[in-house]
Amino acid sequence: MKQFMYLAVIAIGVTIVACNETTGNTAGGEKKTDSVEEVARGKYLVDAVGCGDCHTPKTMTPQGPVPDMEKFLSGYDASQGGLGKFDTSIVRDGRWALLKGDLTAAVGPWGITYAANLTPDDTGLGGWTYENFRKAIKEGKYRGVDNSRPLMPPMPVPALKNLTDEDVKAIYSYLKTIKPVKNLVPPAQLNPPPPPAAN
Ligand code: HEC
Repeated sequence: MKQFMYLAVIAIGVTIVACNETTGNTAGGEKKTDSVEEVARGKYLVDAVGCGDCHTPKTMTPQGPVPDMEKFLSGYDASQGGLGKFDTSIVRDGRWALLKGDLTAAVGPWGITYAANLTPDDTGLGGWTYENFRKAIKEGKYRGVDNSRPLMPPMPVPALKNLTDEDVKAIYSYLKTIKPVKNLVPPAQLNPPPPPAAN
């Protein structure tokens, strides 16, 4: 009798473990499907919003500049060296801004900004959490941390702020899946803000 009880207890135990495993598998399976959809949504948004216009280096062809897909979303290509010499006097009073030929760097009254590396390499968004990414996109915070400087043009923060958290998460999930590219983008060189207007 005692032996039978032990067997029964073991049998119940095995059944419970088996049930848990089934539930676990189902939950895991569902999660996977969700994230496949989420990544696809993220790719759709990145392609349609055009993050690559600024964040992907381009090669010049007879058809005009085309994205260099080997360097997809890896930002201003640091291997090209600096921007060289140019006259900044034209941008000082805010009437003009200059764009690098492949649109990955810009010079304006705010200073010089370089499109960031958005690939999952350590030199890009590798160490970023979703919360960092959300703060960068929705609050325009450099590196996605509190108390950092505001992101400057031409990063379209005023437009991207309108994305829902769900869409920002989808973009983040997609960016985690693209090819990591090692490319340490130079830091922005920002001008001090203009003095307050005298009255
Ligand atoms: C019109 C050009 C342009 C477009 C379009 C653009 N960006 Fe940017 N982005 C920039 C520039 C330039 C910077 C650097 C700004 C700075 O240093 O202040 C930047 C910075 C960023 C940063 C912050 C990086 C950091 O180190 O803090 C993230 C994240 C980012 N962009 C993501 C995106 C995503 C995602 C999209 C598309 C949904 C996008 N950007 C579209 C130009 C652009």
